[in-house]
Order: sequence, then structure tokens, then C-alpha cells
Amino acid sequence: MTHVITLIPGDGIGPEITDAVLRILDAAGADIRWDRQLGGMAALEATGDPLPGDTLESVRRNRIVLKGPLTTPIGKGFRSVNVALRKEFDLYANIRPTRTIIPGGRYEDVDIVLVRENTEGLYIGFETFVTVGGDPRAVAQSTAIVTRQGCERIVRYAFEYAVRHGRRRVTVVHKANILKATSGLFLDVAREVAEEYHGRVAMDDVIIDACAMKLVLDPGQFDVMVTTNMFGDILSDEIAGLVGGLGLAPGANIGETGALFEAVHGSAPDIAGQGVANPTALLLASCMMLDHLGDLTVARRIRTAVERTLCDDGIRTRDVGGHVSTDEFTVAVVRRLA
Ligand code: NAI
Repeated sequence: MTHVITLIPGDGIGPEITDAVLRILDAAGADIRWDRQLGGMAALEATGDPLPGDTLESVRRNRIVLKGPLTTPIGKGFRSVNVALRKEFDLYANIRPTRTIIPGGRYEDVDIVLVRENTEGLYIGFETFVTVGGDPRAVAQSTAIVTRQGCERIVRYAFEYAVRHGRRRVTVVHKANILKATSGLFLDVAREVAEEYHGRVAMDDVIIDACAMKLVLDPGQFDVMVTTNMFGDILSDEIAGLVGGLGLAPGANIGETGALFEAVHGSAPDIAGQGVANPTALLLASCMMLDHLGDLTVARRIRTAVERTLCDDGIRTRDVGGHVSTDEFTVAVVRRLA
């Protein structure tokens, strides 16, 4: 069956890595018709709106999205389109699996799935300035919202993921010693949900700062991790760094009625347009999409081809220690698929 998927190539390196991924998916025989749409800076420049109505309509229609990274202006300008898409379609579960692919790096045994709450916490962006003594920016304040229902569904997602994938332990990451309401509620609810999985999946918990240190000392001790929005955002970049960087880290944003697949990394303006970006993260995200669609065989073929290209052939872009271009890497993966 042909799948119709909304495709948002995105900004910066987005169009380069999207082009590479489409070539590889095509060579692997993925049966997909792409519904191309604009988002982010590219959309702002073309239509005056970073998230045009046509794009939203396409996402509503197709319910599955493959998205390149989108640039968000820092400290001013429009709000993150990524956050807007997650909220609009209630894509509450952000799944970021990371494992060692290339041997000989810092760690040989990383195999972590981070499950991050995607719609609540500080990232709701409820922020204001308070004027003091005539200074309109004297004080900045931010409000985090964490709900029992939001905690329950993300923790349950993590445990269900563990059951489905034969994983043994879920680690709850929090800061309940200081953030007694927001992080405290998350931990309490996590303990309640964990009871239902007693004897099937173990649960433990760790404070975020200790967790950051333990990840660097011995990442092999972690299995599935579940945490709130901002902690998950930060930890997933750290975890990506353990296995060679953002070029290898894919992610999925899952809701009840839709799913959006993307790389963990951003639009990498420092290397955009140079033809050197690593398309692997977005490619592995497209494999998560194929799994989600039930095309497990095509996904497996692509993952094998990528691993052989990186490990057996030693063909790598420069972010993971090689010297080939995006195009040369793409050609090599396609050759492996032949
Ligand atoms: P970034 O992830 O774009 O880049 C961080 C570093 O990693 C840079 O040195 C970059 O060259 C490198 N890098 C990232 N992806 C790479 C790849 N595929 N191949 C080789 N090297 C790669 O983070 P940064 O610079 O903080 O953010 C740039 C923009 O991206 C910002 O506007 C930010 O808001 C946006 N962003 C968008 C995301 C999304 O669309 N989901 C996620 C994260 C950031």
C-alpha cells in the first residue's frame, strides 16, 4: 500500500539531508508518496508565516510527517514551529533511541531509549517580563505546567515501550528534591504506574544532575529512561554525544492520532549549504517511521545498509570522523542496498 506522508524539508541542512534520505528510501523500495510542505524560515520567507495553513492541513490529512530541522530565532522572533506542531497535534511522546553504531568511540555499549514528555513543563513557553523601577525587562518569569494526566500517559508509554521491545528497566529522571510540585508529581505518578508493571519491568529513579554524571561515567547502566520535557531535551543531546554526536540520533514524536519523525539535531547553520551534513539521523528517523507504518523489512534493510557503510566500509561524514560529502555517503548507502 502506498503511504502518503507530509514532508517538510526544513531549514539549514534540512533540504540537503532530506534529499539524501529520499534517495535512499527510494532505492530501498519504500512505497511512499510525498506531500511536500513548507515550515520554519523557508515558510516564513515564501509565505510570511512559519507554519502556513496548507502545512497544517496536510498534517491533519496525512497524520504522518517526516520533517527536517527548523530554525527558531533565539531570544526574539516567532515561537518554535517544532513546539507548535507537537502541541497542535498533541504529539506527547518523544522517543529518542540511541545506541553505539560505530565501534572504537568513547563507549561500546550504549543502548538507551529516552522517552520525553513533549507537551508540558517549562516548554509551554508561558513567560513574561516584570517591570521594576521603569525597567521593562528587570525580571523574567516562566511557568511550568505538569498535569497528572500528562505524567500518566508518558510514563505508561515508557513502560509499554519497554514491554513491547523486551526491555527490562525504566529509569525515571526528575528533580523532585527541589521542584517538589512539578517534578514531585511526575515522580509520584511514575511510582503509581510502575506498580502495574511489577514483575515485568523494573523501575528506578535518579535526580537529573546525578543522571547527567552517571551517563558520562557508565551509560551502559541505562535502559529506557522517562522524563519531563526540558530534562529530556537536554539529556537526549548528551546521550547523542556519547555515541558520536547528533549526526546519528533519530527521534519520533507520537500522539494518539498522528506521528512526526525527525532528527534530534537542529538546522546546523554553521555547515548549511556545504554538502557535508550527515543524513544518518534523519534516515534512522525515517526507519522509525517505516516501523510505525509496519514496513519493518524495508526499515531493517536500510539500517543494515547504513551500519555496513559506516562500520564495514568506513565511509563517514566528517562529524563522525570521516571525510566524505553528504552525496558520497548517500551513494555508498544506496550501493549497499543494491
Ligand atoms: P544544531 O543541532 O543545529 O547543531 C549543533 C552542532 O551539531 C553544530 O556544530 C552542527 O554543525 C552539528 N550538527 C548537527 N546536525 C548535524 C548533522 N546532521 N551532520 C553534521 N553535523 C551536525 O544545534 P544549534 O546550532 O543549537 O541550532 C540551530 C538551529 O536549529 C536553531 O535555530 C534551533 O532552534 C534549531 N533546532 C531545531 C530542531 C528541530 O527542528 N527539531 C532541534 C534543535 C534545534
